[in-house]
Amino acid sequence: MSYVITIDGPAGAGKSTIAKRTAQALGISYLDTGAIYRAIALILASSEVKPDNDEYLREALSKIRVELRDGKVFVNDFDVSGEIRTPEVDELASVYSALPVVRKALLGLQQEQPKHGPIVAEGRDVGSVVFPGAQVKFFMTASPEARARRRYLERVSKGRPANYDEILAAIIERDKHDSSRAAAPLSVPDGAIYLDTSDMTEDEVLNCILDRVREALSHED
Ligand code: DC
Repeated sequence: MSYVITIDGPAGAGKSTIAKRTAQALGISYLDTGAIYRAIALILASSEVKPDNDEYLREALSKIRVELRDGKVFVNDFDVSGEIRTPEVDELASVYSALPVVRKALLGLQQEQPKHGPIVAEGRDVGSVVFPGAQVKFFMTASPEARARRRYLERVSKGRPANYDEILAAIIERDKHDSSRAAAPLSVPDGAIYLDTSDMTEDEVLNCILDRVREALSHED
């Protein structure tokens, strides 16, 4: 049986880690929609396609082929998986993902993914716009401070430069931008299970998600 599980929520809520672990536990694929927006933003910005010209954007987007293979992101066969995880691309992705022309161009690519089998899709509008008919939907969030702390620890563990106050300020700013934008503002999808993970461990979140998924799927054929 093919099915879709969606996990939406703000930046740094731990969605990626949990979505990956959920997919692994269920033996299904993981769709990181943020990685697609990041890759597109990186390429558009480096090709100097400004976010204020729909016509150029549409033309540039028609020439960009994004693929997700083995947990990596490729743009026109070029692996950008490392390059898209920088604070600069955090900002660029937030700007370009707010544009309706960009969202429209990336919708089909995302909706094609479950054709290959069940998936866990993670993003900002996967339960509302991309997969409104998903079998199980989650909205995962945590306080800005809890999210900043996690991002900080993640960067430190990877040996990257990190400043807690700067990360917190960037998260608050990005939340504001992602929630107030006109195109697909961050919101809790209809029927989504709301999870505030501020005081939960990763294992607690994972177990809670797996319990709810198994329960929901047991009612499906
Ligand atoms: O989850 P992330 O930080 O990798 O996402 C990068 C940016 O892309 C972030 O600004 C939100 C945006 N995004 C989006 O608008 N819609 C999605 N489905 C996924 C990400």
